[in-house]
Amino acid sequence: EDDILNKLPLKGKKVLITAGPTYEAIDPVRFIGNHSSGKMGYAIAEAAAGLGASVILISGPTHLQLKHNLIEVIRVTSAAQMLDAVQANFDKVDIAIAAAAVADYRPAQVANQKIKKKEASMSIALEPTTDILAHMGKTKGKQFLVGFALETENEVANAKGKLERKHLDLIVLNSLNDQGAGFKTETNKVTFISKSGAVVPQELKPKDEVAKDLLHMIQNLMYA
Ligand code: CTP
Ligand code: CA
Repeated sequence: EDDILNKLPLKGKKVLITAGPTYEAIDPVRFIGNHSSGKMGYAIAEAAAGLGASVILISGPTHLQLKHNLIEVIRVTSAAQMLDAVQANFDKVDIAIAAAAVADYRPAQVANQKIKKKEASMSIALEPTTDILAHMGKTKGKQFLVGFALETENEVANAKGKLERKHLDLIVLNSLNDQGAGFKTETNKVTFISKSGAVVPQELKPKDEVAKDLLHMIQNLMYA
């Protein structure tokens, strides 16, 4: 019994993870997207499943494959669909980790037909999407809530602001200024910032190592 808990410390725990980009439709053939590969979120899903957790991965469009067959994957395209999937599952989980690069804006209107080219310049009116992580923060009960922050300036202060505004227990600061860190890379350089204010910078590491470190940090904060 003790042995199983040592090797599978997340056995019996449910973990929800959002991953990947979202695509926001402009018309039937075009969308607004971003360069997120989904690698960080998928690495967290694999690592959590490896520690015995039952994982619900809510994934935007990616070509990534999962090795673990015990991960439940819900595939979505837009921020609105990702929000629906999160709302349908958030109540059931012990830990939620928002690693998705959700679009902040979407076209205010989606054209029914392909928009035709004209001589004049054109613009697309945008409206904000719902902040999915902030929504989880607002409606959370006992869930341990983790967010990411992608910053290019005033990194720690901005990340702390997000942690407070979104009612998080932990935020993972991702700095695009760091070499080898970011969207398409296999490695990441992150800093963990907890609700208590502890700032823990990590080395540049493969994303699967960062995922393991993150789950370790979560367990320490939850059960210490
Ligand atoms: N996030 C989300 N839903 C959104 C936007 C962001 O769930 N509509 C989550 C991301 O998954 C991430 C965190 O919020 O965990 C922070 O995302 P980020 O883009 O760094 O911050 P924003 O709050 O969107 O602020 P800004 O882009 O202006 O820095
Ligand atoms: Ca954003």
